Amino acid sequence: MKVRVLGTAAGGGAPQWNCACVACERLRAAGIARTQDCVAISATGDAWYLLNASPDLRAQLLATPELSPGPEPRRTPLRGVLFTSAELDHTLGVVGLREAVELTVFGTAAVLDGLAVRAPLEAYGASIEWRPVVPDEPFWLDDDRLRVDAVPLGSKRPRYAADRPEAPDWVVGYRVTDVETDGTLVYAPCVGEWSAALSNALDGASCLLLDGSFHTDNEMREVAGRGGTARSMGHLPIVDSLPYRTKHPDTRWLYTHLNNTNPVLLDSAPERAAVLAASAEIPADGQLLTL
Ligand code: MLT
Ligand code: MN
Ligand code: ZN
Repeated sequence: MKVRVLGTAAGGGAPQWNCACVACERLRAAGIARTQDCVAISATGDAWYLLNASPDLRAQLLATPELSPGPEPRRTPLRGVLFTSAELDHTLGVVGLREAVELTVFGTAAVLDGLAVRAPLEAYGASIEWRPVVPDEPFWLDDDRLRVDAVPLGSKRPRYAADRPEAPDWVVGYRVTDVETDGTLVYAPCVGEWSAALSNALDGASCLLLDGSFHTDNEMREVAGRGGTARSMGHLPIVDSLPYRTKHPDTRWLYTHLNNTNPVLLDSAPERAAVLAASAEIPADGQLLTL
């Protein structure tokens, strides 16, 4: 299975347009920018599926030759999108796919029913099939080469959906196995608590793309002077997830959905060195993983 990490930043990207925190200023000065979290996967190379659809999707698609259309005028290898949540930074990009001739969007019932962008897409007549996924009911993609299991990760609703019903499946991760190579990816960019469900999903997994939004719980307030704790935003900070790395020594461990306040964005930061020393990785935008 090929896993193309299209973007690695949390909502707002890094640097964020209106932020002059230490990390944003250094990234700006160095001309380094990360786009918002989004991943593309394929086993056969003929069909590709997105894990989330970031607001930066158009630029990400243009930067990724495997996702180019052709040879027929409207033929594209992009077949579907799997949402882990209904958050804007993980779903807005699907609006940019409204010209699709054939596209399947997967999400839990809570996510598909509550999705802000669904009504506008339907009003424009986009050819999208909305397919509900249920944790622990696997489904198959890419000529039955990829087995997908949704992993329940929490009930955190997007702020725009505060009036929607509570449900245990507002946030999921995806465990994707290439049944020919046995390569297995676990994609979990929003993890509020370390859970048995996540731990079980990591059994036998070759690679984890994990919530790395914040390095510490108080980071937003300390760096940006505003905002809540990482945990109150449904993001387990890296200092609290990294200790679990030793329990899964055979799983490649990469942090994504990096918020612009996170010191691990900076090459020179001791926090980044500590993550790397624990044999975890900070992937670059565009990085290819072969599982
Ligand atoms: C999140 O990752 O928690 C959301 O993107 C935050 C938000 O934009 O409200
Ligand atoms: Mn986010
Ligand atoms: Zn910043």
